[in-house]
Amino acid sequence: MKNKLIISLDVPNLRTAERLVDELSPLVEIFKVGSQLFTATGPKIIDLLHKRKKEVFLDLKFHDIPHTVAEAARAATRLGVFMFNVHGIGGLKMMQAAAKATEGEAEKLKIKKPLILGVTLLTSFDEQMLKETGVSKQIDDYVLYLAQEIKKAGLDGVVASPQELRFLRENLGESFIMVTPGIRFPRASSGEDDQKRIATPKEAIKNGADYIVVGRPIIAAESPKEAAEQLISSVRSETSDKAL
Ligand code: C5P
Repeated sequence: MKNKLIISLDVPNLRTAERLVDELSPLVEIFKVGSQLFTATGPKIIDLLHKRKKEVFLDLKFHDIPHTVAEAARAATRLGVFMFNVHGIGGLKMMQAAAKATEGEAEKLKIKKPLILGVTLLTSFDEQMLKETGVSKQIDDYVLYLAQEIKKAGLDGVVASPQELRFLRENLGESFIMVTPGIRFPRASSGEDDQKRIATPKEAIKNGADYIVVGRPIIAAESPKEAAEQLISSVRSETSDKAL
């Protein structure tokens, strides 16, 4: 694994995405395409990234009946993405259907199977918000429950908040992939946006994240390239991590 940094292309159109990709290209190997950009551009953004030899995390968080999610998983596999995700709250059957369809499609096309991640609880949730959705479990218990279901379904890993990395690692083992958003620079004041369960890049890597997903701290910076360089050197200097 050359790179642990995933940049989230949360921008409105192909032109803005292209500018960002070209600026960050020397520093970043994996870009995340989410619902905003994919809805605007369709597979054009995937082609653009593949032409530049970049890997794609397709972050569409599929959550539907098992048949529909299986077909969406097949379509994601045909796009040749490196990883994509489904919601853990979609249930075991839905996740198993996604895993089976992905394996089958990759085999048929003779390509490498994309990694499939399960989303546990969005990093924008806090205890109060979880209660409001009718779930009476504590955040940690709920996240662990979902992560265990995700593993049971045969998915490759989870998307989880940096604050849950350690106990998830203890409970799910070394080979389960952990991808974490909710990354904020040390000086950013808390409560400035919707992310609640956050950590600095250094903390997330130290706590065992295989990949960190960073959006606004880099893409909304005055100079995204300088912000990315700063992030990479902060992680390297403190953790001797050479993977970034
Ligand atoms: O701008 P920011 O760094 O908060 O971006 C985080 C990205 O990660 C967003 O694209 C968001 O949709 C995504 N994400 C998340 N929490 C999850 C899964 C994905 O924040 N559980």
